[in-house]
Amino acid sequence: MTARILDGNALAQRLRADFKTRAEALAARGTRPGLAVILVGEDPASQVYVRNKVNACAQAGFHSVRISYPPDVEPQVVFDKLAELNADPAIHGILVQLPLPKHFDSDAVLKAIAPAKDVDGFHAENVGALMQGHPRFIPCTPYGVMKFFADAGIDLRGKEAVVLGRSNIVGKPMAMLLLQASATVTVCHSQTRDLAFHTRRADILVAALGKARFVTADMVKPGAVVIDVGINRLPDGKLCGDVDFAGVSEVASAITPVPGGVGPMTITMLLANTLEAAEREAG
Ligand code: GUN
Repeated sequence: MTARILDGNALAQRLRADFKTRAEALAARGTRPGLAVILVGEDPASQVYVRNKVNACAQAGFHSVRISYPPDVEPQVVFDKLAELNADPAIHGILVQLPLPKHFDSDAVLKAIAPAKDVDGFHAENVGALMQGHPRFIPCTPYGVMKFFADAGIDLRGKEAVVLGRSNIVGKPMAMLLLQASATVTVCHSQTRDLAFHTRRADILVAALGKARFVTADMVKPGAVVIDVGINRLPDGKLCGDVDFAGVSEVASAITPVPGGVGPMTITMLLANTLEAAEREAG
């Protein structure tokens, strides 16, 4: 079997064209969707992600501001900025790029974002709303993954779904969304015994563990749908996912590539959440 490739660039482009139209309609009524992105420190990957987020806003006709701080900034400076952004009517979405330097209490920072502007969906109130089944903002990466399933007509009801990774950003919200879509969900992590036993049972396999080409063809059930959330840099500088694409695409029925799979969808869903926040605010 050669898997169907789920093209994140193509899906992202279609969705972003729609968001641009909706943003223009909203701007004509006096509200331009606005996103503020806060970056603390000089992590090269975070710098790239933040630049991509700000550029995506510009292309979709959104207003955006990027606020950068040196790695040793006093946390209070960031809390003060968040209070200002929470009260700023031109800003509908606020995102603090993670990870933060070690002297920050990340949970406290995320809780200082107004829940109605928390477009990452990481505030405890929004995490609780997602868990109760009435999300206000769905975290962008798992939201993007769910869009792949919807777009490709993949029915999740009753399917065995296995998530590799239990992070607050991807693994946990991903599991919750799959559960809400009536899949039977298993979450595997670094302490899971016999990981391949679980992955081989999966009709839907989501890899978000951050290990280059970890998932190999022998770990995948023939016909499975494989979603690769990993972005890893190889010694030669090339990007690759958590899945061995060449091998697994011979076994799976559908697979996302890296790059060009989940990555472009994450930023797209950040635009979706920012637009939704602005539309709610405009009434
Ligand atoms: N770091 C890695 N992924 C993310 C994300 O989706 N949002 C934020 N804020 N930081 C991240």
